[in-house]
Amino acid sequence: MKIAFVGKGGSGKTTLSSLFVRHLAARGLPVVAVDADINQHLGVALGLDDDRAAKVPALGERLTEIKEWLRGDNPRIASAAAMVKTTPPGAGSRLLRPRGDDPVHALGQEVDGVTLLATGPFSDEDLGVACYHSKTGAVELYLNHLVDGPGEYVVVDMTAGADTFASGLFTRFDLMFLVAEPTRKGVGVYRQYTEYARDFDVAIKVVGNKVQNDDDVAYLRDHVGDDLLAWVGQSAAVRAFEQGRAGVALEDANAAALDAMLAAVDARAKDWDAYFQQAVDFHIKNARSWANRAVGANLEEQVDPGFRYPA
Ligand SMILES: Nc1ncnc2c1ncn2[C@@H]1O[C@H](COP(=O)(O)OP(=O)(O)OP(=O)(O)O)[C@@H](O)[C@H]1O
Ligand SMILES: [Mg+2]
Repeated sequence: MKIAFVGKGGSGKTTLSSLFVRHLAARGLPVVAVDADINQHLGVALGLDDDRAAKVPALGERLTEIKEWLRGDNPRIASAAAMVKTTPPGAGSRLLRPRGDDPVHALGQEVDGVTLLATGPFSDEDLGVACYHSKTGAVELYLNHLVDGPGEYVVVDMTAGADTFASGLFTRFDLMFLVAEPTRKGVGVYRQYTEYARDFDVAIKVVGNKVQNDDDVAYLRDHVGDDLLAWVGQSAAVRAFEQGRAGVALEDANAAALDAMLAAVDARAKDWDAYFQQAVDFHIKNARSWANRAVGANLEEQVDPGFRYPA
């Protein structure tokens, strides 16, 4: 199951991603955590020290070798250079399994039973449709080639701001968690995010964060209605993790919120054909808007209409 955490800067995307990832790992569930934020903080949030976190290989710097491997002997993809972030898999492409024995997961860092992948730091210019060497492109390729089943989880900590919607990356998830503080700013992006998500048929649920009392919950419910799935309180345990104190258990109510989030993920049904079709649609859009020109070939021909994911 592919899961994203999105929301405003500072809302708690990294914190809730890391709590959710630890929650899954503590249950013995297989989980890959992907740091796809401009500033890379997920490794430290998962408990790596700064040195080890800085040494996690950047997928964004290994794009050529990742493409080379993924394209396998797909005759529709002439070279790694002809493969762009939206190039979908086809006959001959190599597919990935979560935490599989492959060169992409080999770039991951094991942290307490979690495989951590990281894009490496990037800038705003890396985000839009028209970027060829996109760092998040590595994650888009990864997700497009990843065959995950129920009970397997890939959790992506996304970058803040709605400008990231320019990328097809946003459509690659079974469920997106919009982290929102109970403030005007916190819920301010709700409409923008949810409208976009619905346009692209991405399921999105709001998770309140830094909630202090019933009034905060009522405020969130007033603004997001039934899209409010769960909420996490202002947490002494989170603060303790941040201070590097080990062995502090998350408060029961917050653990219950994580359970509700997991249940919502598990309730999602996969539609692989729709997933592929959307990858194809985004690829064609990218091909026409910039990639054909950038590569100097008609990349629409990379689409293999007969391809099916082995779900
Ligand atoms: N539930 C919580 N309880 C206590 N502190 C929290 C909670 N959630 C987040 N914080 C604190 O708020 C700050 C911002 O959180 P975090 O870094 O997770 O936000 P973010 O959305 O990932 O930010 P950015 O947009 O910069 O990536 C951190 O110092 C974090 O420890
Ligand atoms: Mg963050």
